[in-house]
Amino acid sequence: MVSRVIPVDPFDLVIFGGTGDLAQRKILPGLFRRFRAGQMPPQARIIAAARTAQESAAFRAQTRAAIQEHSPTEARDTGALDRFLQRVHFQQIDALGDTGWRALRDLLTASDRIEAYYFSVSPDLFGALAERLQNHGLAGPQTRVVVEKPFGRDQATARALNATLAQYFDESQIYRIDHYLGKETVQNLMAVRFGNMLFEPLWNAQYVDHIQITVAETVGIGGRAGYYDAAGAMRDMMQNHLMQLLCLIAMEPPSRFDPDAVRDEKLKVIRALDPVKPHHIARGQYSGLADYRSEVGDPRSKTESFVALRANISNWRWSGTPFYLRTGKRMGARLSEITVVFKDTPHSIFEEDAGRHRNVLSIRLQPNEGITLGVTIKEPGPGGMRLIDVPLDMTFAEALGDEEVDHVDAYERLIMDVIRGNQTLFMRGDEVEAAWAWVDPIIEGWTKRGDVPKPYECGSSGPGDADQIMQRDGRAWRKVS
Ligand code: NDP
Ligand code: BG6
Repeated sequence: MVSRVIPVDPFDLVIFGGTGDLAQRKILPGLFRRFRAGQMPPQARIIAAARTAQESAAFRAQTRAAIQEHSPTEARDTGALDRFLQRVHFQQIDALGDTGWRALRDLLTASDRIEAYYFSVSPDLFGALAERLQNHGLAGPQTRVVVEKPFGRDQATARALNATLAQYFDESQIYRIDHYLGKETVQNLMAVRFGNMLFEPLWNAQYVDHIQITVAETVGIGGRAGYYDAAGAMRDMMQNHLMQLLCLIAMEPPSRFDPDAVRDEKLKVIRALDPVKPHHIARGQYSGLADYRSEVGDPRSKTESFVALRANISNWRWSGTPFYLRTGKRMGARLSEITVVFKDTPHSIFEEDAGRHRNVLSIRLQPNEGITLGVTIKEPGPGGMRLIDVPLDMTFAEALGDEEVDHVDAYERLIMDVIRGNQTLFMRGDEVEAAWAWVDPIIEGWTKRGDVPKPYECGSSGPGDADQIMQRDGRAWRKVS
């Protein structure tokens, strides 16, 4: 099956922070892949802006190397890479001063294309950039701004940032990125839920025993020690990526697949979350071969690199079905997975030794994205009625023909959505504030108690406390492997 590429309208995309890690690793390689796929029109321009002066030629050389490193297969198409780099320019800008703004305006005003500004800089600069875009006449009613995470560090700061952005832009112009929403399987989750009759009638507390969401990483904090040690897994992953997954799995069917209909339903889920009880949370910090505290250079750091919790959603659909969420760095395997564990059959007609069997729907985001449904069948062969669970596997790469599918990374998909003006996969301001309102008391509780995260071995599945959350409920986490 060949994926369809629909070119977007011509655009100018200014990437503030164009020399930074995110732009060089994800945004620019992603744009190159869209260019090569024919989705980015040849007239489109990318203007990378950063504080340190350099010539466009030098910036193109840097970007060529970044694309070769982070998108090596596509970068072998040197003709396409050359043509793409001709569309790339560099402009020195000071987000906190006047340098470069007039030149940027001169670059942009001659064009009647879609204008988008990507704030890929430290969050302290978001407000200053918004203000300068307005003051220098660079923002019109059609302008779009893309705002990176973290969006605040609690509800108060998120609210303040929303208020600042609202001084200059309408909500319909603001694209708050959560790159998990751009992942293929996350969208597939909505397709599976709302495009099939099969699952939705069973998608509730009457049939679902519990749901697990795991985002396990093998990497550590890398070069982001300063940011990470002030954030921790709760702010870095739980408040955004895992909560977004929770919303999509738990929300009511929206009336349409349009931005506000989807985001209204997600918001209702967040608002229906009960406060989390302290014994339903576990925190951990990796140690062993790689040691978190050494990596951040603080032998007393109390920041968690792992968090697991049990969430309850108080509404008609989910009352009585717990959601178990966990995420951590330097775990045994890279695995992002949502698992829906259905209840036992109300009565077993088979002998005791046929065993208890449950249907498990597992939605894998990465690696090997796909959906597996565990069904119970008779074990083949003679010897009576013995039951076994077998997976009905739908690994997308196999089902759809791997070479034929145009693999689209989350960032490139989301940037194309910005150009199309589609906010469905972006977080609305009230959603972000509500997510913080749920997370804030948890973090405040840790701070007040002086809570110290439990050490866990690198390569493990997290601290024992996380297992206990499950064990107390007579359940177990899925294996991280
Ligand atoms: P970097 O520190 O690597 O890059 C920062 C960029 O901002 C540089 O291009 C820098 O230019 C520019 N910059 C700094 N000060 C100014 C200024 N006063 N005026 C104009 N430009 C300035 O950051 P990242 O790329 O890692 O992160 C960017 C954003 O993306 C942050 O909000 C981060 O939280 C978010 N993010 C990053 C991820 C990642 O994996 N890196 C993942 C998820 C989100 P110069 O060097 O010339 O000063
Ligand atoms: C980012 C976090 O938002 O997501 C990182 O800041 C994390 O700490 C990353 O490593 C994980 O994203 P992915 O797409 O690799 O699962």
